[in-house]
Amino acid sequence: HGTSTINTKGHLEIGGCDTVELKEKYGTPLYIVDEALVRQRSREYVEAFKQSGLSFQVAYASKAFCTLAMCRLAEEEGLSLDVVSEGELYTALQAGFPVGRIHFHGNNKTPDEIQMAITAGIGCFVVDNFTEIHLLNAIAKENGAKVNVLLRVTPGVEAHTHEYISTGQTDSKFGFDIGNGSAFEAVKLSSEQSNLNLLGVHSHIGSQIFEVEGFQMAVERVAAFAKSVKEQLNVIFQVVNLGGGFGIRYMEGDTPLKISEYVKAITDGVKQHFAGTYDKLPEIWVEPGRSIVGDAGTTLYTVGTSKDIPGVRKYVAVDGGMTDNPRPALYESKYEAMLANRGKDQVEETVSVAGKCCESGDMLIWDLDLPKVNSGDLLAVSCTGAYNYAMASNYNRIRRPAVVFVKDGSSDLVVKRESLNDIVANDVIPERIQKQPS
Ligand code: LLP
Repeated sequence: HGTSTINTKGHLEIGGCDTVELKEKYGTPLYIVDEALVRQRSREYVEAFKQSGLSFQVAYASKAFCTLAMCRLAEEEGLSLDVVSEGELYTALQAGFPVGRIHFHGNNKTPDEIQMAITAGIGCFVVDNFTEIHLLNAIAKENGAKVNVLLRVTPGVEAHTHEYISTGQTDSKFGFDIGNGSAFEAVKLSSEQSNLNLLGVHSHIGSQIFEVEGFQMAVERVAAFAKSVKEQLNVIFQVVNLGGGFGIRYMEGDTPLKISEYVKAITDGVKQHFAGTYDKLPEIWVEPGRSIVGDAGTTLYTVGTSKDIPGVRKYVAVDGGMTDNPRPALYESKYEAMLANRGKDQVEETVSVAGKCCESGDMLIWDLDLPKVNSGDLLAVSCTGAYNYAMASNYNRIRRPAVVFVKDGSSDLVVKRESLNDIVANDVIPERIQKQPS
C-alpha cells in the first residue's frame, strides 16, 4: 500500500527509498514513515469535509505519533491538533504549531498543564469532569482570560471494534454521562462560569472502529442532547466534536471503510439530526490519530538468532520487540510482515517472530509465513505508524529507535536513535553510595 513496492533487486522500497539502504544508513530497528501516505490520509479527511459543505476542523490526535516534524506536517496539511499532556503541548509549541488550532484533552489536566496552555493561548480545552470545570475557571480568572471549552460527554455508545453496546458507558473514567443527567448539569454549570466560553460538546466512542453505526448513534444522541439543552437552558453548541477511532487495515481480513465514508456518515447524521433544532448547523470537528499515520509506518528489524523446536515451532528473534511495539503484548494485536531484503522469494517456512526483551510475552508475530529466514535478513512489519513510537519504552534499557520520513527517494531523520548516553542521562548516584577512593 502507499508508495511501497518491491524493486528490481527484490528489496522493499518505501517512498522511493530502498529499505536495505535505509538499514545501511540508519541502522535497525528503524521506524520508516511514508510521508506521502500521511499527507494523502490527511487530505482525504479535509476533502471529505469540504464535500459536506459543513464548517469543520480535522484535529490530528497527536497521541498516535507526536514529534516536531509530524506537527509541522499536520500544520502544512491544514489539520488542527489534539494534545493530552504538557509533553504533547510542548512538542506542538516547539514546532510552531498555530496555538489557536490546538485542543487540550485529558481527564486529569494538572494546574501546571492548564496554566501552560492558557499562557500559550490554546484554542480550546476539552473539559472532562466537574473538578476540572471549577479548576479551569479559577485558573483562567487568575490569568484574566476567558477560555474556549468543549465538554466531553459519553453518549452511551461503546464501540468494541465491531460491536456496539448502548448502555454501560456510564462506567467510564471519561466525560459527563448524557444518560444520567450529569452532562446536562455540566452544560448548566460551565455556561454560568465567568471565565469559560462554552463552545460545544465532544464525544469519542472508541478506537479501531470499522463500521459507521457507532458514529451515527453518537451523532443522534448528541443531537437529542443538544435539543434538550437548547430548550431547557437556551444554550446552543457552535461546535460538535465526534472524536476519532476510524479503523485501518492491519491484516488481510480487516475491513475498514474509506475515510470519506466515515466522514459522510457523520456529516449526513449531523444534517439529519440537528436540522430540526438549529437554524445554523454546528461546526464539526473530528480527531483521527491511527487513520492518519497508522498504515504509513513500517518498522524495519534485523533478524538475529533463531530457535527451532522440531515439530513444535521455529522462533526467529529480531533486534527490537515490545520496547518499540508493545501492542501485541498489550492488546494481542496482529501484524503482517515480510523479508525486506528478499521481497521476491517464495514462502518456505512458518516462523514466530520474537523480540529481544527478557520475557516470554515479548512476541511480535505468531505463525508468519516467510522464505527460509537467515540471520541478517531484514524483517519489515507494516502498519506500525500509530501507537508504536508513541508507546515505545526503554524496558531492559533498550534504546528507542530512530524515525525517518521517506518521500520521492529521499529519507530524512525526524527522531534520532537514542544513544547509550541517553540511557543514563537522567540517572544520579547519591553521594553516600559513591565509590570511595581506595
Ligand atoms: N480522541 C480521543 C479523545 C481519544 O481518546 C483518542 C484515542 C483519539 C481521539 C484518537 O483515536 P484513533 O483515531 O487513533 O483511534 N493505544 C491504543 C489506542 C488508544 C486510543 C486512545 N484514544 C492502541 O495502540 O490501539
